Amino acid sequence: MSLYQDQVLPRLIDVALGGRDFARIRARVAAGLSGEVLEVGFGSGLNVPHYPSTVRRVQAVDPATTGRKLAARRVAASPVPVEYVGMDGHCLPVDTASIDHALVTWTLCTIPDVDRALTEVHRVLRPDGELHFVEHGRSPAPAVSRWQDRLTPLQRRLFGGCHLNRPIDDLVARTGFEIAAMENYYLRGPKAVAYMFEGVAAKA
Ligand SMILES: C[S@@+](CC[C@H](N)C(=O)[O-])C[C@H]1O[C@@H](n2cnc3c(N)ncnc32)[C@H](O)[C@@H]1O
Repeated sequence: MSLYQDQVLPRLIDVALGGRDFARIRARVAAGLSGEVLEVGFGSGLNVPHYPSTVRRVQAVDPATTGRKLAARRVAASPVPVEYVGMDGHCLPVDTASIDHALVTWTLCTIPDVDRALTEVHRVLRPDGELHFVEHGRSPAPAVSRWQDRLTPLQRRLFGGCHLNRPIDDLVARTGFEIAAMENYYLRGPKAVAYMFEGVAAKA
């Protein structure tokens, strides 16, 4: 891994996704989490201040060691215990049907085999478990999605494998989830990076 990917990018992401607009979204997405929670793509722990007190414990998965360092202060200050349980969402070292809620925020764009990762999340959720998510992805507007397709190769190189053009709702639905609620919207900024999928999916 290059110095840029290992050291610079996690810090860039921490700043870029650490603003007030993102905090408001994180608070909405974390609302309703409870019990045993799995967070895939834990990054620098920007969701930690938003975990509700109904969460018993968070099991965190992320390959980025610099992200862990950046998260250390947030984790130490958290009333909700956070335990790192793995480094790769493709293969979760977590018992089947042991998790009440899973959380992913701006991560399904980056995981190389996203079907496999979502299938793993589905496996570890209890039968009445839910996945809470907010992700950027493929816009329904052809003028935007054409640009997303064009720009994705560059985006992947610059931002650690991030795809602009993944159809997040289809990916969630085709890995066995039923989308219970979802809002789509553009954040401020270039439309190619700004189309959001925010919602909750049930283990169907
Ligand atoms: C754009 S960052 C988002 C971080 C965090 N979820 C947030 O909202 O700030 C994407 C994260 O996905 C993580 N990631 C990449 N590949 C992964 C994998 N195979 N399994 C789990 N996480 C992965 C990266 O290390 C990074 O922390």
